[in-house]
Amino acid sequence: MHRIVHKRVVAPDTVMFHIEAPWVARKVQPGQFVIVRLDDKGERIPLSLSGWDEIEGTLRIIVQGIGFTTKTLIRLNEGDMIRDVVGPLGRRTHLPQDGTLVVIGGGYGAGAVMPNAREAKSKGRRTIGIIGARTRELVLLEDEMREVCDEVYITTNDGSYGIEGFVTHALTKILERESVGAILAIGPVPMMKAVSDMTKPKQIPTFVSLNAIMVDGTGMCGACRVTVGGQTKFACYDGPDFDGHTVNYDELMLRQKMYKTQEAQAMDLFCRLEEQLHAKV
Ligand SMILES: Cc1cc2nc3c(=O)[nH]c(=O)nc-3n(C[C@H](O)[C@H](O)[C@H](O)COP(=O)(O)OP(=O)(O)OC[C@H]3O[C@@H](n4cnc5c(N)ncnc54)[C@H](O)[C@@H]3O)c2cc1C
Ligand code: FES
Repeated sequence: MHRIVHKRVVAPDTVMFHIEAPWVARKVQPGQFVIVRLDDKGERIPLSLSGWDEIEGTLRIIVQGIGFTTKTLIRLNEGDMIRDVVGPLGRRTHLPQDGTLVVIGGGYGAGAVMPNAREAKSKGRRTIGIIGARTRELVLLEDEMREVCDEVYITTNDGSYGIEGFVTHALTKILERESVGAILAIGPVPMMKAVSDMTKPKQIPTFVSLNAIMVDGTGMCGACRVTVGGQTKFACYDGPDFDGHTVNYDELMLRQKMYKTQEAQAMDLFCRLEEQLHAKV
């Protein structure tokens, strides 16, 4: 069992938790993730780590409530217990070490890029951060990004804050001005694809974290199969970070929709349970 020691709502339907998991906190490296199960019968959901504290034995996760399990999770409170936290899973990120590093985070990706941004900063590497969100209230971790990066750009789709448009608009400005040694982009698949499409002709090494549907997280079940460079890979075991220029994004997006019917049924159940809960209060 893993106790929630801290909870903070960081945006609508988005919560940052610190949870006890000393064994994971002792071993985890940037780019790795955990699989969480809320209770004995719960679905297993993969979550990135936006930080950890080896001494306190805690992990920091940022959860966006988009379906049954994530919406249930963000309703838990400090002191509540999570049944399983399995990890660290996947491989650590290996970025080329020369030149400026640009980290790009969309949604929970703003947290997921943080361990690599922090590591780059601790090595004295010039690091530029880009945070993308639909609207101002969904911009995550701006202050922390400013702490760990030499420069930060914010983009919002509706122009309510920062540059109006997408993360690629900010990236264009950076690439017009300076040469970049590596890019790490984590967020929705269309965002990672757009960044990779932009940097491929310029041959800028670009890494993306593939949020394929996962079950066991150990390379055994095949659920997270992705095609990278024409070869079959397992996002949980071979990744989750891959060379963004060689990922088959169309296949990934198709596979993400595989369980749409079941997910919709689970959301119906969630809404009914919420109604019952409110009726009792
Ligand atoms: C390596 C990795 C890291 C991730 N990190 C984070 C994070 O830090 N914060 C965060 O909020 N989300 C993260 N996700 C996504 C998160 O796992 C899904 O949002 C969650 O599993 C959805 O479950 P649900 O029951 O709430 O929603 P559902 O209704 O079950 O699913 C909603 C959508 O989420 C995706 N999804 C569903 N089940 C899984 C699954 N088992 N594995 C992966 N994707 C799934 C599908 O595309 C689906 O359409 C990560 C995913 C991966 C693979
Ligand atoms: S989740 Fe089963 S092989 Fe990756």
